[in-house]
Amino acid sequence: MKGIILAGGTSSRLFPATLSMSKQLLPIYDKPLVYYPLSTLMLAGIRDILIITTPHDLPLFQHMLKDGQQWGLKLSYLPQAQPQGIAQAFILAEEFIANEPVCLILGDNILHGEGLATLLQQCTSLQTGGTIFGYYVRDPSRYGVIEFNDAGQPSKIIEKPHLPPSHHAVIGLYFYDKQVVEIAKKLSFSARGELEITDVNNHYLQQQQLRVIKLNRGTAWLDTGTPNSLLDAANFIHVLESRQGLKIGCPEEVAWRMQYINTEQFTQLAHALSKSEYGQYLQGLL
Ligand code: DAU
Repeated sequence: MKGIILAGGTSSRLFPATLSMSKQLLPIYDKPLVYYPLSTLMLAGIRDILIITTPHDLPLFQHMLKDGQQWGLKLSYLPQAQPQGIAQAFILAEEFIANEPVCLILGDNILHGEGLATLLQQCTSLQTGGTIFGYYVRDPSRYGVIEFNDAGQPSKIIEKPHLPPSHHAVIGLYFYDKQVVEIAKKLSFSARGELEITDVNNHYLQQQQLRVIKLNRGTAWLDTGTPNSLLDAANFIHVLESRQGLKIGCPEEVAWRMQYINTEQFTQLAHALSKSEYGQYLQGLL
């Protein structure tokens, strides 16, 4: 299965912190934000990954992540000239997707929890339809929200409703079959001028081809759109990493444990970073 990380947008809610570079490059405690969604795809077993970002930030991502070979990945890059909606990613990525199923993750979403890797690995066997994830939140009105019918089945997804029909927000991780490119091409721009991922999901839902998996409360889903949520995410990572002595969202470790790279390659990566606490952690794993 192919993977896409959508890491563009203006990040205007974080100005001035993001005036000169995109938020997905900012650190969340000890590593750049984009490491987290990248590690999530890697844990799902996805290794052929396209990063879509702004023309301005694209060289910065390339400089940081290279062609991915160092982590046993194949990374490629595409610019999105204007942030015209999450669903636009599938149109831009048509050639990359090449009629295969695809998983898209938003570059600012952090996921962590027991059993998550296994769940996501199961999702990569998807051949028809789509799979999305619902997550119980106190205030769902900032997100796509799932409406359920009396039988408890999802009946509609509503983008940022004033009166949310449930507490289940749709997280920024989506699995689709190859139809997604044609579905995205047929969308109209919404009132906020975007090709909405929620319209893609409603299309699959109407065709009875959408699986909605409710993530359990042991899973953490964090987004990082505002200064407060950015700090919350950093604190969350700091607390857990300090307590356990294990890192979250560490691509080198994931690559090694998933056997995308061998111990010799991992040793070299750890050595190159040995001046930092991050590199010393990697060396400690050996
Ligand atoms: O985080 C999950 C939510 O993401 C979902 O619940 C919503 O259904 C979905 O629409 C989206 O909500 P937001 O409106 O909050 O997304 P936002 O515009 O903040 O974009 C999410 C990320 O994607 C952000 O890091 C910027 C990036 N992005 C966004 C757009 C619209 C792009 O790279 N290009 C784009 O065109």
